[in-house]
Amino acid sequence: MGLSTGRSKIRTAVFISGTGSNLKSLIKFSKTNKSPISIEFVVSSNSKAKGLNFAKINNIKKKVLNFKNKNLSEKKLLSALKPNNIEMICLAGFMKILTGNFIKKFKGKILNIHPSLLPKYKGLNTHRRVLNNKEKYSGCTVHFVNAKLDSGKIILQKKVKISKNETEASLAKKILAEEHKLYPKAILKAFNL
Ligand code: GRF
Repeated sequence: MGLSTGRSKIRTAVFISGTGSNLKSLIKFSKTNKSPISIEFVVSSNSKAKGLNFAKINNIKKKVLNFKNKNLSEKKLLSALKPNNIEMICLAGFMKILTGNFIKKFKGKILNIHPSLLPKYKGLNTHRRVLNNKEKYSGCTVHFVNAKLDSGKIILQKKVKISKNETEASLAKKILAEEHKLYPKAILKAFNL
């Protein structure tokens, strides 16, 4: 796939909006020898995001941008990423949609995790829609980001079985636990490792 690493780790930013449990798992992974990435920057679209705490306790630089004026926020974002030599971006529960213009600047170097078996259930409220449709399986997907929402090339997926009395909350919990394992695996795959 489109990513390659030399001797040093790829300087990566993780974008979040909430709890940041995927950020936590990515930080843990990035500290292992086998990881091709190092996490050097955290961006949050929400100043109250719990995930910002993981940046704090791991001494990772962070920036909060509200994206109310998307073009302005992306301009500020680029100005923050550039001096930190960020080469790759992992979206992890990031609830804003980046512009095509921004995505072009990191072409083939932005990954996202989505809690469904894409191309099914793009967008929000995936678990609710999956349950309403009485699906037997759901799961999570890591994919490259392109200008179309949740539509870039799929890197890796994990399928989970929906239980009899599944609720939105139980399904979310089950899938999130798989996300934490899938994202590192997908990064290794994206680097052909
Ligand atoms: C995850 O399920 C992710 O796939 C979705 O939002 C959730 C974020 O969880 N887009 P966290 O902030 O990583 O804990």
